[in-house]
Amino acid sequence: MTQSTPLNVEVVRRHMGDDAARVDLSLLQQCASTNASLLEQGTTRDMLSVLVCEEQTEGRGRRGRNWISSGPRSLTFSLGWRCMLEPAKVSGLSLVAGLAVAEALADLGMTGVRLKWPNDVLFRGGKLAGILVDMQSNADAGLDVIIGIGLNVELPDLSGLETPETDQDSLAPAALSQGLAQPDRNLVLAAILCKLIHLLDEFACEGFAPFSDRWAARHAWAGHFVQVRMDGMAPIHGNCLAVDSDGALLVDTGRGVQRVLGGDVSLREVN
Ligand code: BTN
Repeated sequence: MTQSTPLNVEVVRRHMGDDAARVDLSLLQQCASTNASLLEQGTTRDMLSVLVCEEQTEGRGRRGRNWISSGPRSLTFSLGWRCMLEPAKVSGLSLVAGLAVAEALADLGMTGVRLKWPNDVLFRGGKLAGILVDMQSNADAGLDVIIGIGLNVELPDLSGLETPETDQDSLAPAALSQGLAQPDRNLVLAAILCKLIHLLDEFACEGFAPFSDRWAARHAWAGHFVQVRMDGMAPIHGNCLAVDSDGALLVDTGRGVQRVLGGDVSLREVN
């Protein structure tokens, strides 16, 4: 049985301290998808919008997959940000979101959280959290960016699920409860939001370049042999190196270093 406390907006805001003034935070017991809801609602220039939800009925994952959120065993939320970034500069953003999750959890005492390019958050080799970034252009008013984050608080019950929240790139699930004693979802949400707000401020000014070393320090598959698949292209095989100043993954194929940019990319380890 899960010990997780109910989500409570006031408690989250209290944990966030002064940063609470930057966000408009709402909680729903159920919705189709927090990303879809925020996309529909749109963002505003003055405030970051955060929607957290106990249960998603049509949660979306990367590459057209489903994402199942199972009430208190998970933490499911999206943050909407109105920014003036050129769409081409946004590729590093999903890496920054993963970094924010990893660093916030480290601040809470969960050591050993790692990152799989572009934005999976891993613990002990399993998938702890997935991130989906959606974008919508608003002509002169900027870009609506929706960063959706789904975390396993407890290990999911995968029985009977056709498309479980584990990665179809065949990673086992991992959970906060494996690295934190009695994870408190309100505290975890507040810590991630505060970290994300500060990292987004820095990203808006400086782009991804200042984050590449921090990301590399948590890179789970550095030096691992991988296969990269992109729609309509022959797979790439090689050794995973670092990420560059745009957040592209560098893969040493033996015939040179290939830059892999984000998008509809599948990355898997090959033994
Ligand atoms: C992945 O496939 O790894 C990304 C999963 C992203 C899931 C989150 S849960 C909150 C937000 N709302 C959604 O519909 N998806 C994202």
